[in-house]
This record gives sequence, structure tokens and C-alpha cells, in this order.
Amino acid sequence: MSKITAAITAVGAYVPDHVLTNEMLETMVDTNDEWITSRTGIKERRILKDAEKGTSFLGIKAAEDLIRKKNLDPKEIDLVIFATATPDIFVAATAAYAASEIGAVNAFSYDLQAACSSFLYGMSTAASYIESGRYKKVLVIGADKMSSIIDYKDRTTCIIFGDGGGAALFEPNEEGLGVQDEYLRSDGVGREFLRIAAGGSLMPTTAETVANGQHYVRQDGKTVFKYAVSKMAEAGTEILKRNALTADNVDWLVAHQANERIIDATANRMGLDESKVLKNIKYYGNTTSATLPLLLNDFEKQFNKGDNLVFAAFGGGFAWGSIYMKWAYNS
Ligand code: UT7
Repeated sequence: MSKITAAITAVGAYVPDHVLTNEMLETMVDTNDEWITSRTGIKERRILKDAEKGTSFLGIKAAEDLIRKKNLDPKEIDLVIFATATPDIFVAATAAYAASEIGAVNAFSYDLQAACSSFLYGMSTAASYIESGRYKKVLVIGADKMSSIIDYKDRTTCIIFGDGGGAALFEPNEEGLGVQDEYLRSDGVGREFLRIAAGGSLMPTTAETVANGQHYVRQDGKTVFKYAVSKMAEAGTEILKRNALTADNVDWLVAHQANERIIDATANRMGLDESKVLKNIKYYGNTTSATLPLLLNDFEKQFNKGDNLVFAAFGGGFAWGSIYMKWAYNS
């Protein structure tokens, strides 16, 4: 009997309509289009303006897009993993609400939080369930309403992040396509350099934490940048080596979109030609858990069955890694 592998069989995505351009940011903080473009590659990002809607809205829309494209009966979904760093609320998982809203009434569901690596880790989790033979349809949603945790007076973060959602369906494959290998790592040293200080059990929200702006995400950009390049490249290179992949037989690098310079440096260290490096950061900025599925959705038509995709991500925690996948369908 051939080994069961876990393949992506459909993708979907959603970004809100409102566009926040570099020019608009120039009126909000001391920055300029030239600085943002040359340091990050970002020109605009999407913002969910409706204060009544949380991250679930983005994820539900993305899942509904997938369901429509695939003509999928949501009752067949076994598990919904909602990868996010910005859950709607604490305690009750955003996944449970999203699963009910999309009609996945026979599924169980939970949230997965690994900051910007949430979707990558979710891919690993989904693949493990499928490979074990226990479940047949696992939906991984990656979505973040980053605007809900950004201080729009802080020019070192507000220029980077945006809102968005994406989704991918994982199913068993008997042709050997889908997830081939993974290299995932974490290091708690990163907690100092990228975090929201207040609102958790360590520092519950008080009037004082709010006055201090400690409910917003803060980062030491330079340190995060250095770790991101070195760890993403290390993970990607290890994946190439372990699977005897050369730069020539990698078809696509699907890298977390945090900063164009991080993506380029990672590709460079892996020896990959720029024509293989997928990018949409210019239009969305860093959407955290949504960057990887947004790339899959935007470039889906360019993928061919059997293409070698190498995923790489790095984020808060620190948490990072790389996954090697053989694409399973032509669209
Ligand atoms: O997914 C994981 C999440 N985060 C990341 O991956 C982010 C990783 N880090 C980065 O992308 C970059 O470090 C940033 C984009 C955040 C910053 O770029 P940088 O090239 O590392 O700039 P820097 O922090 O070294 O700052 C250079 C200068 C500073 O001025 P001085 O001290 O040289 O006078 C900053 O104050 O640029 C200044 N600066 C800005 N100027 C205009 C910082 N932010 C801005 C801004 N506009 N928005």
C-alpha cells in the first residue's frame, strides 16, 4: 500500500477593500513613501475598517472563497485549524465560530498561535492528521486583523502590517504529492524582541497598561530582521539538503512576507533565482498568518502539478521553519 501524503487540494483568500497607502501613512506618522518602499518593499496594505468585525470575518470570507471554488460541501470538513495571532476574543476559539459560520457542522476546530509562523505550523499539523489516516479533510485558515493591535502613532510597526485571510484544504494523496518534509524550530529568546506586553496572564490589562500603549505590538525591528534572515535561510537550506533539492529543481519559494529585503536575502542565501520567489508584499504588507495562503491564492494559476514548493516563515516567539511540498493540481 502506498504511503498517504497530505496535499493541498484547494485555496481561497480574502482581503478587505480599504487600502492604506504609504502616502496616507505620511499624514499619520513621520515617514515617507521612499523610506517605506526602499526598506520594506511595501506600497499599500488592506485594513478591515468595520469596528464590529474581528479576524474571524477575514478567515470566514477566505474559507467561503475556497468552498465556492472547490464546490466543497462544508459538512465533509473534519477539522478546522484557525491560525492567528489576533483571535476575535480570548478563551473561546475563533476556529469554533468560523467553523460554524461556514457550515462545517461535522468538524472539530481549534486555534493555533505561532505568530507569523502560525500558518506554516498549521500546515504541519494538518499534514500529520492526514498522514495518520485519522481525518480526510482538514481546512487550515490563516487570518489576522493586525490593525487591531497596531499603534498608528508608532512608525516602526504601522508601516509594515496589514489585514487579510487565506485558507487551504488538505486531503490525502496516493501519488506521493503534497507535504514531503519539514524543518520547524522555535527559540523563546525572541519573546523580548517582538510581542504585546499586556493583556495576557503575565500582565493583565489595566488602565495603566492601556495608557502606556502596552496592548499594542512592539518590536526591535533590527534584531527581528537579523534572526529572520538567518533562520529562514538556515531552515530552507536544510530542507534543500535533506531532500537532495538543488536550486534548479525548486520551482517556487513561498516565503513569509514580512519585508522584501528579508525575502530576497533568504532566497539569495538559498541560491534561488529571483524568478522563483513569490511576492505580493507590495500590496498587502505583512498580514502575519495570512501571508502564505495569500501567496498560494494569488499565484495558484502559475503552479503545475508536481511543482516543488519550498515554504519558509519566521515570526514572534521566535518561531520559524521550512516545509517542502509537491503541488498536487493544475487549476
Ligand atoms: O514577521 C516578523 C515580524 N517583523 C519583521 O519581520 C520585521 C523585521 N524588521 C524590519 O523589517 C526592519 O527592521 C524595519 C522595516 C522594521 C526597519 O527597517 P531598518 O532598515 O531595520 O531600519 P532601522 O530600524 O535601522 O531604522 C533606520 C532609521 C532610524 O533612524 P536613525 O536612528 O538612523 O536616525 C529610524 O528611526 O530609520 C528610522 N525609521 C524610519 N524613518 C522613516 C524607522 N522607521 C521609520 C519610518 N519612516 N517608518
